[in-house]
Amino acid sequence: MARLKLGVLISGRGSNLQALIDAAADPAFPAEIALVLSNKADALGLERARKAGIATAIVSHRGFADKPTFEQAMTEALETAGVELVCLAGFMRLLSPWFVEHWHDRLINIHPSLLPAFPGLDTHRRALETGVRFHGCTVHYVRAAMDNGPIIGQAAVPILPGDTEDALADRVLTQEHRLYPLAVKLIAEGRVRVVDERAEITGQPTAPEPVLNPPG
Ligand code: GAR
Repeated sequence: MARLKLGVLISGRGSNLQALIDAAADPAFPAEIALVLSNKADALGLERARKAGIATAIVSHRGFADKPTFEQAMTEALETAGVELVCLAGFMRLLSPWFVEHWHDRLINIHPSLLPAFPGLDTHRRALETGVRFHGCTVHYVRAAMDNGPIIGQAAVPILPGDTEDALADRVLTQEHRLYPLAVKLIAEGRVRVVDERAEITGQPTAPEPVLNPPG
């Protein structure tokens, strides 16, 4: 069966891109990366894509007079590559309602918090300051409001006594690398449907166990 064609949008390090590259290296994975697009020429993720033999494009926001022409150029590059699902992976530009609508239910994002808690930046510091006992990451369909949209999946990470921002960020990132390929797989298998602005998932094999923190 044809694999779902992904376009991955990055601005930097690209460790989530790497997780998708690694997942798609398995021919049984139901999606493949057709294009990696960066708005920054020096994004480390571009090197990861090149190493894996994946097509890359640089569409710099600085090269265009305004946001609409920048986003049209990105869309053209993605459509020329035959992209069916756009995955934001550390893409640090806010997208306009036009772009979000154009790719409606074909555009997903990974965010380092358990949304709707902590949208925006500095999520790990804010989680520690707030004193929540669980933090984590979310993959969701993108809507016009920032870090908003039907949630496909989340990974919860317990906050530990004495945690630092860096230690917590590392533990969340490890889960991001599991969650993003899983969310893509579910979509590619046709198991995710948006109904009344909630993502419904069919065919889940088992229900996860509840977890307490503190544990005892
Ligand atoms: C990831 O932690 C991702 O969740 C976050 O940026 C990082 C990118 O890392 N995204 C956002 O904050 C978007 N709101 P990566 O380039 O190594 O994948």
